[in-house]
Formats: sequence, C-alpha cells, structure tokens
Amino acid sequence: MTVSSSDSGSIESHDAVDVIRAKRDGRRVDEPALRWMVDAYTRGYVTDPQMSAFTMAVLLNGMDRDEIRVLTDAMIDSGERMDFSSLRKPTVDKHSTGGVGDKITLPLAPLVASFGVAVPQLSGRGLGHTGGTLDKLESIPGWRAALSNDEILAQLDSVGAVICAAGSGLAPADKKLYALRDVTGTVEAIPLIASSIMSKKIAEGTDSLVLDVKFGSGAFMQDIDRARDLARTMVALGTDSGVKTTALLTDMNTPLGLAIGNANEVQESVDVLAGGGPADVVELTVALAREMLASAGRPDVDVEAALADGRAMDLWRRMIRAQDGDPDAALPQPRETHTVTADRAGIITRVDALPFGVAAWRLGAGRARAQDPVIHAAGIDLHVKPGDAVSAGSPLFTLRADDGARFGRALDAVVGAWEIGADAPVPLALVRERITA
Ligand code: URA
Repeated sequence: MTVSSSDSGSIESHDAVDVIRAKRDGRRVDEPALRWMVDAYTRGYVTDPQMSAFTMAVLLNGMDRDEIRVLTDAMIDSGERMDFSSLRKPTVDKHSTGGVGDKITLPLAPLVASFGVAVPQLSGRGLGHTGGTLDKLESIPGWRAALSNDEILAQLDSVGAVICAAGSGLAPADKKLYALRDVTGTVEAIPLIASSIMSKKIAEGTDSLVLDVKFGSGAFMQDIDRARDLARTMVALGTDSGVKTTALLTDMNTPLGLAIGNANEVQESVDVLAGGGPADVVELTVALAREMLASAGRPDVDVEAALADGRAMDLWRRMIRAQDGDPDAALPQPRETHTVTADRAGIITRVDALPFGVAAWRLGAGRARAQDPVIHAAGIDLHVKPGDAVSAGSPLFTLRADDGARFGRALDAVVGAWEIGADAPVPLALVRERITA
C-alpha cells in the first residue's frame, strides 16, 4: 500500500503523520504525497519534528529509485533553475563529495575551460574537517565569491569558467532540510545525500556532470560499497533528469596532495597549473578533466598539454581577475609554524586523512559553525606521502596557525595518524572505479 492523493495543491491536502507512518512502516510514498511533504515543509506547514521523524524513517527504511527522483524534483521545484542555453558552448560541472586536501576544483575548472567548454562551478563553504572551495579561493586578495546570475552567465561567455557561491535561490528546500539533518543524525542516508547534491546540480542547469565520489577515512563514506551505492544513485538521478552524469570512485584514505588548508591549497593548485604539483593532485585533475571533456563531446584532447604549456594557467588568471582577485598577490602566511620530525628512519606506510583534516580544522582552517570565519593561512603542509623514505629527524609535516596555542589540540588529533615501517606499502589506485548510467 502507498500513501497517496490525487491533489497535492492545497496545503491541507495531506497529513504529515500519514506520510511519516508510511515510511516508518517501510511502505513507499507516492509522488503527490512526497511533493506535498517537501513543499509544505519549505513553507513551514510541516514542522521540524515531523520532518525529523520522516528523514529518520528514510534513513532506516530507504527509498526506491522513483521516490528519490520525486524527492529531488520537489527540491528543485522549491527554487529557481538556472539556464545556460544562451551560451554557444556545452556546459559541464564537477561535484566532489569532499575530502581532506581536496582542492581539485581550482586547477580543474580552468583546465577544462581552456578547451572551449563552459564550466559553471557553483560551490560551497566548508563545514567540519572537509574544506570548502570558496574558503580556499577567498585567500586570494580581492577575490569575490558572490556573483549575480547575469555575472555568472557573462563570465562563462567571456572567460569560460566560474567558481562562485551557489545563490540562495537554488533548491531552498535542501538548505532547510540539510540544516535539520545536520542536527538530527540523518545526514548519512543515501537517498537524502543523493537528492540534496543532485537537486542543486540539476537546478544549476549544466548539460553534463562528473561526480567525484570519495571513500575512505577522510570521506563522507568510509566504505567503498556505500560510496558505490551513492554514486549509482546520483548517476541514475542525473540521467533521469536529462543531465549526462558519470562518477569516479576515488580513494580518500590519504590526504590529496601535500597542502591541507586554504592559502596553501591555492598555492598547490597554482603549482599544478604551472605544470608541477604533487603527482596525486595532477593525476586526479587530469582524470576528472578527461571525464568532463569526454562528456562535453571532446574525448580526444591532450589534457596534460594544457597544463604544460600554460593555457590552463592563463585561464585561471583571467578567471580570478574576472572576480576582482589579484592572481599575482602574495597569499596569506601563518604567524606561527610547528614542524614534526621523524623519530626514526624508514618508509612512510600510512598518512591517515581524517586526523589530518581534523587537525587542520583545529588550527583554524575550517569552521565549526556556518557563521564562523576561517583563517586563510592556517592548515598543514605535509612533507611526506606513503612510500617516501625518511631518516631520523626528517620533517614529516608543518602545522600553520596564527596562534601557537592551537598547536596542542592539533597535535592531539594526529596521534597515531602516520606510520614509519620497514617496507613500502602496496600502492593502490587513486581512481578505483568509473560508474556510468
Ligand atoms: N553535500 C550536500 O550538498 N548534501 C548532502 O546531503 C551531503 C553533502
């Protein structure tokens, strides 16, 4: 049996308790009832306690593919849809489920745009141990995250890439629901994560989308099987909505690159755009760029050449300038640093992402509450990665902060987070699987 009604127009056309009971008892909720639930919650008729009970029932009992599609669509319908159809080039976007040291959007957007594809990268700020793209870019003096829809369109036309804040008009139901899930232990439900991410991406109006779904200690999903489920659910949602969607499952057990923070991650991204940078950051940037360009109809281009010959860097500079940033300005530097060294010689066998993410956050690189500021110079510079040989006394990592009093709690977070052994660890592929519709 399903909870249903042919009339979802009136605010009193359904009863929230019936919808909650249906999901509590493992039944499916039909389209009008589900659309009503989202709309009535957004308008304040369904209360927070009722929506909390409903999201908990979803977490425990799940949703089928059609319910997830309807939920996503109802969240899209709660706000505006952007329209890039006036551009004379294909649009392609990337979304990462987030990880420690994940600055890939910064080199990726200009790299892909350097091939004549438009990249609208509407991004968020960090909360907790995973950093936010906008926080990182705000390390650049003058750079402006807030753009109007007209400015976004004009920049996509003239430069080709935009990284900016998603406006409050995109999927407002998701904003309200996400804040509720955050305080009711219901963030982890795959139908809710998938509909939350995809409602914003579909409302953004991109032609195609590449998802970087991370698994491992520094990711949302620790376990590759759950990450795969999430990736498949999101790829199905995008496909059902007419957005060409693929996903890569990528390893987030070790921080990406050597920089964890804000200003230092911008510097590392610029290094990649200059043809250098850590091998794992380059590998993932290139893999995602290939995937994005293939889905935008450019499967055979030489992505590495655009990093080596400065085309991607030129586009980065234009993109930063278009948003009032100075690409040549010095980036903020920390007032205090503290370097931890190896207590013996050997090979680094493990650098665990989550503790290093938490430590960077405690140094001030991230925020605990949405309204808190971040300290752009704060974070961690790693000097080693798994497989590197060290001698006793070699630097392992440097903590960066504006206040040395923060070092103690950051060091507490990384106790046991790295290992020096005798043998090199078996290298595992960074990009583990590709998921298509
Ligand atoms: N990011 C989102 O936008 N929503 C979620 O539910 C989880 C991550």
